[in-house]
Amino acid sequence: MVKIAPSVLAADFSKLGKEIESVKSADILHFDVMDGVFVPNISFGLPVLSSVRKITDMPLDVHLMIQTPSKWIGRFAEAGADTIVFHVEAENPESIKTTISNIKALGKRPGLSLRPNTPAAALLPYLDTLDTVLVMTVEPGFGGQGFMPDILTKISEIRQEIDRRGSNCEIEVDGGINYETAKLCVKAGATVLVTGSFIFKTNDRASVITKLRTNAANP
Ligand code: DX5
Ligand code: ZN
Repeated sequence: MVKIAPSVLAADFSKLGKEIESVKSADILHFDVMDGVFVPNISFGLPVLSSVRKITDMPLDVHLMIQTPSKWIGRFAEAGADTIVFHVEAENPESIKTTISNIKALGKRPGLSLRPNTPAAALLPYLDTLDTVLVMTVEPGFGGQGFMPDILTKISEIRQEIDRRGSNCEIEVDGGINYETAKLCVKAGATVLVTGSFIFKTNDRASVITKLRTNAANP
């Protein structure tokens, strides 16, 4: 079944506890960390993650949009991440391998993310060691942007490769996800839908989550 992952970035931080409570029927909580270097924006980091960890049992999916993520894996693991996703563009090949091993050694699930212009081929050398692949369907850095339909081909390519290898690796899509784009992504092979503004801009979040699931089940 397709999983729904609300992105905390779109929440109202003045009442973060209530905001997280309002999306508890979802499967995963997506946590976007931005450093103002890898992406042209700064979001939140370790202290916020530790606080969120205390108030929810939902799996926490940490999406690191930072330069040199290898330095920070231990701290994010300690702060409560369950899955740690970093960008293939942010480290060299040797360091990508080591970072994936380090995430596993800490008992966490490793993931790699691709910017829209990065081809699927960039993650193939690591695919067998990953629990998740996060395909950006907008330029990373900001919520509320329009979905890039050209990326659907890349999602299908990754799906084919995962199936060919008989792997259980998830394919997450992130950016501009709504009822329509969710269907397109699931058809192309996505299994986790990250969605920020589409969920948090409504008051009835539980019904948006249910409807996203229903749509995804009938793409
Ligand atoms: C963007 C982030 C996304 C963002 C998605 O850099 O990685 O997770 O929160 O937001 P929406 O769903 O509003 O496009
Ligand atoms: Zn994200």
